[in-house]
Amino acid sequence: MNERTTLKAADNGHLIIGGCDALELAKEFGTPLYVFDEAYIRAMMRVYKKTIESRYGGNGNVLYASKAFSCEAVYRIAQQENIGCDAVSGGELYTALKAGFNPANIYVHGNNKLFYELEEAVDAGVGGIVLDSISEAEVLDGICRAKSKTQDVLIRINPGVEAHTHAFVQTARTDSKFGFSISDGSALEIINGVLALKNIRLKGFHCHIGSQIFEKQSFVLAADKMMDFIKHVKDETGFVASVLNMGGGFGIYYTDDDPKLKEEDYATYLTALIDGIKGKAKELNLPEPYLLIEPGRSIVGESGITLYTVGTIKDIPGIKKYVAVDGGMFEAPRYALYQSKYCAAKADDVNAPCTQVVSIAGKCCESGDLVAADVRLPEVKKGDILVVFSTGAYHYSMASNYNRNFVPAAVLVKDGKADIIVKRQNYEDLVRNDVIPERLK
Ligand code: LLP
Repeated sequence: MNERTTLKAADNGHLIIGGCDALELAKEFGTPLYVFDEAYIRAMMRVYKKTIESRYGGNGNVLYASKAFSCEAVYRIAQQENIGCDAVSGGELYTALKAGFNPANIYVHGNNKLFYELEEAVDAGVGGIVLDSISEAEVLDGICRAKSKTQDVLIRINPGVEAHTHAFVQTARTDSKFGFSISDGSALEIINGVLALKNIRLKGFHCHIGSQIFEKQSFVLAADKMMDFIKHVKDETGFVASVLNMGGGFGIYYTDDDPKLKEEDYATYLTALIDGIKGKAKELNLPEPYLLIEPGRSIVGESGITLYTVGTIKDIPGIKKYVAVDGGMFEAPRYALYQSKYCAAKADDVNAPCTQVVSIAGKCCESGDLVAADVRLPEVKKGDILVVFSTGAYHYSMASNYNRNFVPAAVLVKDGKADIIVKRQNYEDLVRNDVIPERLK
């Protein structure tokens, strides 16, 4: 168990999160259940915000990458913590606005934003749109012209930095679908194109090198390359970027394969990035850009746990033991997608010694449907409540209704109080959009 969060073991061995007994939560709200620790989310938002304040004179902001976990309550928390957010679809933008988020602090992303998404972003008055193609820039310019508005934009640049993470979550390799490559000259081409457009105003550049990254050097190298690029653009076009968005990507603890970072370690990561930018600005005689960062996983990932009820247990002697739970790839898709690793425990005795290695199987009709493989657990029996840790990021947000299973409820816990922030779906939700055409009646 990762002691850094407000997770702890009560005297009776029960898991406590945000002052709530996990067994009571399971009983009250049912399982599977996503549980989010509000204090943890706020602490992580603050650590980034404070580091920008103390190490960079407040010349920047944190944009919570809401793809990690998007629902109205989490935008409320971000707004209260006085940070911005990044929205990557009309749906995320809609949710943020519905939660009352200040549009000026929303940045809109996406490699293929749809016409209506661009229009909605302009109508809302978002702080920035991060462009990912020249055709998109032209469409946006047309939308702004028609509405007699000017929209601030950034251009997504691919600095070509490879970080050690799963190939699917690396986004700044030269073969990435995202951004414009510095190395092949395509970045400079789009900048000239965007500068020629009258209804969009180029403010600077964005990059994002990938996710679940622990190497400080990768971030510093990307910042270095971006600053060199800003200088190159200045020399070639006269345009001086005033905003630099370095994306997200800081890693979190899932298993002992990952370092266990403390809040101050994340401050150290960000400080290294800031120092790199400051040093480069001085060296290249550039103004220090307004810095944006977009952490998602590191803000919500370790704030979240998922509670399950154990069902069928199947031991294939000498081969494998499956402990099936009432969830699966529909609410925990990361094993199926990336073979992601997790730690788990028995919620009524979190520190019980582990005596076996099992696969936690889901209930979907698919062999690859595991919540996690090769997990160390104590003996468990049908009806026990299992907890899987570090499920706050990219679980609820990537959940589906595969096999017509329900997306579970999410509760937010703080100081012993638990509130529903996402209701559990029901059968009616599953058929809400189904239509039987007349000719089938
Ligand atoms: N900014 C941009 C432009 C991004 O594409 C991402 C993540 C972030 C920020 C936030 O990165 P973070 O701080 O969360 O690492 N579904 C995958 C992760 C995909 C990440 C996509 N982009 C997973 O479950 O591991």
